[in-house]
Amino acid sequence: MEQKERESWGSRIGFIMAAAGSAIGLGNIWRFPYLTGMNGGGAFIVIYLACVFFIGLSIMLAELTVGRRTHLAAVGAYKTNSKSWTFAGVLGVLSGFMIMGFYPVVGGWSMAYIVKSFTGLLSNPAAVGDAFGAFIGDPIQPLIWTVLYMLINVYIVARGVTKGIETAGKILMPMLFGLLIIIIIKGLTLTGSSSGLSFLFVPDWSVVNGNTFLAALGQAFFSLSLGMGCMITYGSYLNKQEKLPQNALIVVTMDTCAAILAGLALFPALFAFGLEPTAGPGLVFVVAPQIFAGMGGFGMIFSAFFFLALMIAALTSSVSLLEVVVAYLMDERKMSRKSAVYGTSVVMLILCVLSSLSLGVMSKATVLGVGAFDFFDILTDKIFLAIGGMLLAIFAGWFLKKEDLRDELTNGGTLKFGLFEAWYIMIKYVIPVLIGIVAFVGITSIAQKGLMIFGLLVIVVLAAFSKKL
Ligand code: TRP
Repeated sequence: MEQKERESWGSRIGFIMAAAGSAIGLGNIWRFPYLTGMNGGGAFIVIYLACVFFIGLSIMLAELTVGRRTHLAAVGAYKTNSKSWTFAGVLGVLSGFMIMGFYPVVGGWSMAYIVKSFTGLLSNPAAVGDAFGAFIGDPIQPLIWTVLYMLINVYIVARGVTKGIETAGKILMPMLFGLLIIIIIKGLTLTGSSSGLSFLFVPDWSVVNGNTFLAALGQAFFSLSLGMGCMITYGSYLNKQEKLPQNALIVVTMDTCAAILAGLALFPALFAFGLEPTAGPGLVFVVAPQIFAGMGGFGMIFSAFFFLALMIAALTSSVSLLEVVVAYLMDERKMSRKSAVYGTSVVMLILCVLSSLSLGVMSKATVLGVGAFDFFDILTDKIFLAIGGMLLAIFAGWFLKKEDLRDELTNGGTLKFGLFEAWYIMIKYVIPVLIGIVAFVGITSIAQKGLMIFGLLVIVVLAAFSKKL
């Protein structure tokens, strides 16, 4: 039988836009601003940047290297080394399902808010908070938006790597940056906006504590799409001529810029209107509309632009999460792309329905103390991604040959990568220990101990049955 050729990116810029699209998501525009707001502004940003460029960049490079070396998605990539490692890939696929059990719900909210920008959301700024609570708790409305949002994902991923994912990235990423810049310019022209700038860029170290570091590292992982084989999968579609170190640096820099731009889009305006930066997860859906309401007649347009930017960012990320599972089914279960996409997204939708309802009518139905939405969010964010990243570093540092890694990173010796030794020491020794410490503190800080034990048990059971997976 003829071997079907593996799909690959059509161009360098296509890969960069797709990988940046994966990285830039709700993590940048929804989570980064509220974490910054809650952790004191500038000081958090400095620590976050350190996490991104010392730890995140190294792991990004390791994931891309493992993916391109094996030309396989996460499970296959681990399995080619030893079946005892299969579980680490499977853990990634499981994380993919779980993140996609709530991510499209928030994606759906942002779609809804594009429309709501024009239909009265801004007319009563005082009621924005209650309106948000009522909306996400509604049993029908948010679900319709989630389904619509999922359909767009299905459409893109079913078209394949080049025609679907790459094209979406190439169109949507420049649009996202353009929209953010328009909103930033508007915000900076408001009187009083400069205190927003000093909040962002003048660090106040007195607010920093252990939790700040924890939040910053977790955010770096989530924002860069690390720890679940996403960049392994995207790396597996890269051709042998691409320079991995350079590409990793570009993607990480773009992701960081997007986060800073999101901060610039919100905080100057927020301070200009005298609102509080510490609102938490509701910051984007509750405080942002209040800002736009204060901008007069054009506020609607800025609001619609903002939520369009949020939706675009979310879309190119959820596409990558869906692709992790689809690529696994294609590589390991020999499914066709279309059936993998349809089957996977139906399961994800069911999880999303549970998540969405857990914020309203099903709020009493908890498992291990939390509703479905928090269940998926906490398990992935606090446990699976961190452990997944640590496993990858151990895998690359201790189980792959150093010379193979060097060969892959230098394109067979034709490329100079002066930082190879430094990177190798980071991956082999520094990062596993650092993540170990942070994961330990993070995991033990979960209030729901039952959930924590459950998460760890899942990993242990997967590891024990690794050879059968
Ligand atoms: N990075 C995306 C964001 O910032 C979310 C995401 C996409 C992700 N793929 C991932 C997170 C893989 C962890 C792992 O919103």
